[in-house]
Amino acid sequence: MDVSDLSVDLSIDRTDIDKQGKLLLSFSPDGHKSIFSAKRLQDYLHNVEKQTHDRCESHKTLWDSNTVNAHKTCFDWAAYNDDQTVRLAALSSFAQLGYFVLSNSPAEENQVLKIVDSFGHLRDTNYGNLFEVRATINANNLAYTNAGLGAHTDNPYREPVPTIQALHCVENTVEGGESLLLDGFMAADILRRENVEHFDTLRDTRLHFRFSDNKADLRSRVPLIETDEKIRVICVRYNNRSIDTINLPQDDVLDFYAAYQHFAKILKRSELATTFRLNTGDCMVFDNTRVMHARTSFSTGGQRHVQGAYSDLDGLYSQLRLLQRRETA
Ligand SMILES: [Fe+2]
Repeated sequence: MDVSDLSVDLSIDRTDIDKQGKLLLSFSPDGHKSIFSAKRLQDYLHNVEKQTHDRCESHKTLWDSNTVNAHKTCFDWAAYNDDQTVRLAALSSFAQLGYFVLSNSPAEENQVLKIVDSFGHLRDTNYGNLFEVRATINANNLAYTNAGLGAHTDNPYREPVPTIQALHCVENTVEGGESLLLDGFMAADILRRENVEHFDTLRDTRLHFRFSDNKADLRSRVPLIETDEKIRVICVRYNNRSIDTINLPQDDVLDFYAAYQHFAKILKRSELATTFRLNTGDCMVFDNTRVMHARTSFSTGGQRHVQGAYSDLDGLYSQLRLLQRRETA
């Protein structure tokens, strides 16, 4: 039977409790019978008001540069591979804080693909199965120069956006080039607390993002802050290098810029970002719908070679749930 076959006048005709304490329901008008355990019904009723998406801010531990230090976010690559409790801790860090760092992995090209494979599935894009981040001549993307990069999420011009990014350091002998991570959900929460109208403007306004070169022309129309039905944040996007022309109705433009600038200034507050050096063999794995990344400029002497790859939340959360299931079995 399909839902379209059900009567709109469906009702419970009769209820009984059997000797095992199970609830027997008879439905009218078709006489269909169902059996439920009391626990199953209780669990369902208890959770119906608490149902949320994996991405929802209400599941997360929001952090800033101080509070994040109370959490373990860095894990040794060998232990992560050999010990399921370490793997569970790393993936739990991702679910709670939006990132984890793997240290001492092989400093080899393509290692980032092995790391993605360890927690999920690779997302191939027009950049290939991985992308190189190092200074290049005639770079088509600021990431491929030695300039600093402000806090951003990657590829907001892509729908669906890659929800996980991994950046693996193959070599780093430059001065500078420090990595910054920032909790975008915390930034959105600060915006909401300081000016809820600005928060509402960024969640209600759909913007165009675009990336274009001679091989691709990618476009999206999405809000900077995305929420669920209870106005809880589930995704942030911010990338001032790939935002397209802001072409809004005249009456909305000034309000939008006030909100946009407020959010941009919050993202620059030094107390929000955690800063660290990505050493050779280190890899940071972060939620590209939540955690923004940035980089300071670096010297032209020495070598900084990072390889990046995209993945998605489904594979990582699936593995996390399997590990949690084994833990409680
Ligand atoms: Fe980036």
